[in-house]
Amino acid sequence: MRTREAILPDAQRIHELICAYSGDGTLLPRNFAEICENVRDFVVLEHRGKIIGCGALHLYGVHLAEIRSITVDPAYQRKGGGRHLVNALMDEAKRHGVSCICLFTRRPEFFSQLGFTAVQREDIPDKISKDCCVCPRYHNCDEVAMVRGEVPKFSILREPMNVLVKLEA
Ligand SMILES: CC(C)(COP(=O)(O)OP(=O)(O)OC[C@H]1O[C@@H](n2cnc3c(N)ncnc32)[C@H](O)[C@@H]1OP(=O)(O)O)[C@@H](O)C(=O)NCCC(=O)NCCS
Repeated sequence: MRTREAILPDAQRIHELICAYSGDGTLLPRNFAEICENVRDFVVLEHRGKIIGCGALHLYGVHLAEIRSITVDPAYQRKGGGRHLVNALMDEAKRHGVSCICLFTRRPEFFSQLGFTAVQREDIPDKISKDCCVCPRYHNCDEVAMVRGEVPKFSILREPMNVLVKLEA
């Protein structure tokens, strides 16, 4: 198994992999156009030339990135593929100098094996501003917020730029 950066011809297969787990709410649904538009966020997992998994890294800024849409084809689970994907996305975050990686999940046991710890979702205000505030399950969210790294002390989506500059100084 190996990981590589996704390219546009992979979008159809990425869409299929995500759809398999979005019906029951395990993964957030992503439509095909959205996957094409954000394909540079994705890493795919290949086995003998076939794409068997995917995951994405959304960048907020050097203070925060989010692992999203991570999944492995059920026929290939528990063989280390999920770990490969998370490691590839963490390497990507490191390359960008990101100090904290967050994610929201219903599989906290998988991510805790990989060094993530649970936090309150309010600790990640950028995620709330971007996704949670428009989520129909905002008041009965059953996902666990997790982070690896230093929890950011500010929100790039909420603070005006002059406040951010002062906080960083
Ligand atoms: C979560 C998921 C990506 C894990 O992929 P995977 O290839 O099976 O994971 P790995 O083989 O790399 O597992 C690494 C370790 O994580 C832990 N782990 C993996 N899946 C687990 C599960 N369902 N329950 C508990 N621990 C789990 C195990 O410790 C495992 O090591 P082990 O098999 O030696 O015990 C995969 O189960 C999946 O696609 N699930 C559906 C989509 C999903 O839930 N995505 C995450 C939500 S954000």
